[in-house]
Amino acid sequence: MKNWYAVIGDPVSHSKSPSMHEAWFGENGIDASYIPVHVPAGTAGKAVAALRRLGASGWNVTVPHKQAIIPYLDEVDPIAAEMQAVNTVKVLPDGRLLGMNTDGPGFVRSLEERIGQSLSEEPVLIIGAGGAANGIALAMKQAGYGKISVCNRTVEKAEALCSRIGGEALRLEEAADRLGEFGIIIQTTPVGMSTATGGLPIALDRLDRRTVVADIVYSPLYTDFLKAAMNNGNVIVDGLGMFIWQGALAFHEWTGKMPDTLGTRKRLIAEME
Ligand code: ATR
Repeated sequence: MKNWYAVIGDPVSHSKSPSMHEAWFGENGIDASYIPVHVPAGTAGKAVAALRRLGASGWNVTVPHKQAIIPYLDEVDPIAAEMQAVNTVKVLPDGRLLGMNTDGPGFVRSLEERIGQSLSEEPVLIIGAGGAANGIALAMKQAGYGKISVCNRTVEKAEALCSRIGGEALRLEEAADRLGEFGIIIQTTPVGMSTATGGLPIALDRLDRRTVVADIVYSPLYTDFLKAAMNNGNVIVDGLGMFIWQGALAFHEWTGKMPDTLGTRKRLIAEME
């Protein structure tokens, strides 16, 4: 039987992962397929048993199963263990299931692809302290970014994250006052997603024009936050690159091949227009 892969989640029908991975299989001459599997909350264990039995070669994991799946896997890698979140499962040659997390590393790769180099000397501000912020903070730290500050509406969550990574926790207003100090600002909250109300998570009056401004939201591609930074003349990094790179790193784990991320970006943008 040919290899097949999946993404499990709820909702999952609108995921761009199946078409992205199937295009990559085609481009790399790999005879494999990738399907979305609707798995409701509370049924991750059953889904893992079924995927094992049916012989899936690997799968991605999205909301609401990133944490819930962990007890059903045989091993988790250090990043996924630290984050208590898995977005990629690799079936090892002996059939054991390894949980990994490519979300945070995917962000770092997309940032560095956009800028063309590492910016690890620059002080970083992360806005938000949820699951996505945790993954990004950890991956940035592992990639050598040494000065990380985190601001959040609930400052206690920023403090908890900073105690894990050795960063500095700030209130939103404090961060807004000190915005000019940061070389990179990363917006990780859902503020700006089409389903939410839009707007800005933090005031940008003190934004320095030399700061690189990133948002992990990719629908819309340009959030109000990114639009404000663009109007100010800043270099911006939209969230589409993180989505592509989390998939590319999973694809590389499964197949040993690295897909064409920039070509994929052009195709996805054309589809979104
Ligand atoms: P994810 O896994 O996408 O990171 P999450 O774990 O639910 O999602 O975290 C959402 C983050 O966005 C949190 O930092 C949250 O702030 P709180 O910890 O104070 O809840 C932040 N967030 C969500 N809505 C927000 C809003 N309207 N303004 C500011 N921050 C918001």
